[in-house]
Amino acid sequence: MKITFLKIFAFLLVVVGTYAYVGQLVPQFEEHPPAKQVITVQTPPQELASIGEELLRTKGGCLICHKVTDAGNERGPDLRHAAGEAAKRKPGMDVEEYLIESIVTPDAFIVPGYPKMMPSALKPPANLNMAEVKAVVAYLQSLGGTDITAKVQAADIAAAKKITILIEPIKADLGLGDAAIGVLQGPAFAFVNGAAQVAARVVQ
Ligand code: HEC
Repeated sequence: MKITFLKIFAFLLVVVGTYAYVGQLVPQFEEHPPAKQVITVQTPPQELASIGEELLRTKGGCLICHKVTDAGNERGPDLRHAAGEAAKRKPGMDVEEYLIESIVTPDAFIVPGYPKMMPSALKPPANLNMAEVKAVVAYLQSLGGTDITAKVQAADIAAAKKITILIEPIKADLGLGDAAIGVLQGPAFAFVNGAAQVAARVVQ
């Protein structure tokens, strides 16, 4: 009788302890979300470029195909040269215009020697807004050693807010935070991309 009681007590202790442990993990996670850098019309060029770098590495998923260091993926061109090449790619198109176009509508110009495979960054999985695209362009310009001309306009911010208004309730419904979405996006895209490569090999 006494033993049974002790067993139940020990069991309850373990259950309550586990809940308490998990419970204190969750608020810690929510109280300290990663600092979100807000892009405004006033964001100085260098800061815009550093936000762009972060976006290119995380939410943008660009490094799944591109590289910005000696090591990295080579499905797409080395982005350290993108700004330098941009001036020569399309006659009459300046660096900033070309870079925006190649991120937003990649199929408008296919870099010779590369396949047509880049998704528009305005669509999932990257789902960048125009303010974020411009931040990425600022980063590509800083990488290429050209002047940072990319500038965020009030209209870009307004459009981004509209998207947020649409997305936030869905995120809330699913109980997903920005961190969770950011963490899930990379592997989810890598998985889809991997599956597509396998499928392409099977078809060949
Ligand atoms: C699924 C692979 C893939 C992903 C993801 C991808 N790209 Fe690309 N990208 C390519 C390929 C392949 C090319 C060359 C063919 C073409 O022009 O579309 C390219 C071309 C480009 C170019 C033109 C480069 C030049 O030298 O003219 C830029 C700029 C670029 N990508 C930026 C990005 C950015 C920024 C992201 C992330 C938001 C990104 N790409 C994500 C595959 C990808």
